[in-house]
Amino acid sequence: MQKDLFNNDMPAKPFLKWAGGKKQLIKEIESRLPQEIKDSKKIDKYFEPFVGGGAVYFYLMANYKVKKSYLYDVNKELILTYNVIKFNPKELIEELKGLSEEYLHKKNDKRSEFFYNIRNSFNENLKTFDFENYDESHAKRAAQIIFLNKTCFNGLFRVNRNGEFNVPFGRYKNPKILDKDNIISVSKVLKDTEIVCSSYEKSKKLIDENSLVYLDPPYRPLSNTSYFNNYSEFAFNDHEQIKLSEFYKEISLKGAKVIMSNSDPKNENKDDNFFDDIYNDFNIDRVLAKRSINANGKNRGNISELIIYNYDI
Ligand SMILES: C[S@@+](CC[C@H](N)C(=O)[O-])C[C@H]1O[C@@H](n2cnc3c(N)ncnc32)[C@H](O)[C@@H]1O
Repeated sequence: MQKDLFNNDMPAKPFLKWAGGKKQLIKEIESRLPQEIKDSKKIDKYFEPFVGGGAVYFYLMANYKVKKSYLYDVNKELILTYNVIKFNPKELIEELKGLSEEYLHKKNDKRSEFFYNIRNSFNENLKTFDFENYDESHAKRAAQIIFLNKTCFNGLFRVNRNGEFNVPFGRYKNPKILDKDNIISVSKVLKDTEIVCSSYEKSKKLIDENSLVYLDPPYRPLSNTSYFNNYSEFAFNDHEQIKLSEFYKEISLKGAKVIMSNSDPKNENKDDNFFDDIYNDFNIDRVLAKRSINANGKNRGNISELIIYNYDI
């Protein structure tokens, strides 16, 4: 039985639904990869300094031969979950199996009660949880993160400024709380990947001329009321965007191939040249993407997004 569990060859895919997930931009990004990577299907060193749910990372791992990867994010719950999947997939599967069986056997209002009990316990434990020193409590917390992500409203993981998970219950009929095959596939894929809980700047010292870097920072809000970049305690305002453009220039000077996605302020104001100005040394393409354009996620439309890269294609 154990043998079967670890023998699946399914490509790994994101294990959490994440705000700003890039699934639908993958083809646009792939078509703009450096030519030698497209031809050889090989990547020496891959960096994703704002990894989130990792849609682009998992796609590349499934379709290219990647020697070594480095993932960074400031969200410590997210990085904890990556690390538990990497080092303790079996414990995580056991924890999720327990949560899933208990939840799916309940009727709707009992499910909601169970959801809020898990959410309270998750938020309560935050005060004393030791993120630094790994022990078995980490698998339990990772299972709670995945459980909350799969059963909450809109299926997103979002915390408030105090780091508390604050998304309400979502009424899904049959959520896939435990995806055993994918956890095993993700665990295998992560073996040659360094996962770091830190701000993107930390990746700078490891990036060199053999590196491909994909940057997907929190989006600059489309309007003052948009809440798109509120999903972490860390704000990403214009000042942060300018600092990131300096980082972009520094790693470009090191010879790295760098590709970035970002929001296009021209959706709202055609005279807003913010990114055109700060990335004027680089190639900027505008592509169309389907996005929710208001807070409740209902109003979806085609909007333009930016892909900025520092090499010729
Ligand atoms: C747009 S999301 C990335 C989405 C991802 N590409 C996907 O497909 O799911 C941006 C991510 O950057 C993280 N973040 C915010 N500030 C950061 C910083 N200073 N350094 C590294 N990560 C940061 C957020 O926690 C979030 O996960």
